[in-house]
Amino acid sequence: MTERRLLLVNGPNLNLLGTRQPEVYGATTLAEIEARVSEVAKESGLKVRAVQSNHEGALVDAIHAARTDCAGIVINPAAYSHTSVAIADALRSVGLPVAEVHLSNIHAREEFRHHSYVSAVADMVVAGAGPLGYEMAVRYLADRLTP
Ligand code: DQA
Repeated sequence: MTERRLLLVNGPNLNLLGTRQPEVYGATTLAEIEARVSEVAKESGLKVRAVQSNHEGALVDAIHAARTDCAGIVINPAAYSHTSVAIADALRSVGLPVAEVHLSNIHAREEFRHHSYVSAVADMVVAGAGPLGYEMAVRYLADRLTP
């Protein structure tokens, strides 16, 4: 039985949250989001490993690594949502429940953001709820993982 741990993955440019286009992504920093995710996960007895990278291959590697010690994945693939078959395939390959998060409502933005390769693999998708979306994703996975 895999350990009770979630992998939290954040993709490119999300390291700049707090200062990056605050009118779109808000003022909350990635560190604050990661802390809150850990807090919410802890309520359900889950630990969190948080990874952020601006590199597609590093994100694929982090997803593969989850195979051995994680029970679910919360992922905001950021711009790679719209381009990366590799990340979608990595998620498919590990076979863990996946919750996809977008801070902004990608469906109300430019057309190229409307499609996410990851959504076809995700068990749930939340977009437009801001940082609260990450909490919703954790609560969804915690509920799913409850025997
Ligand atoms: C995002 C939306 C993506 O279109 C964008 O490229 C991001 C962040 C979001 O959280 O709203 O970097 O995933």
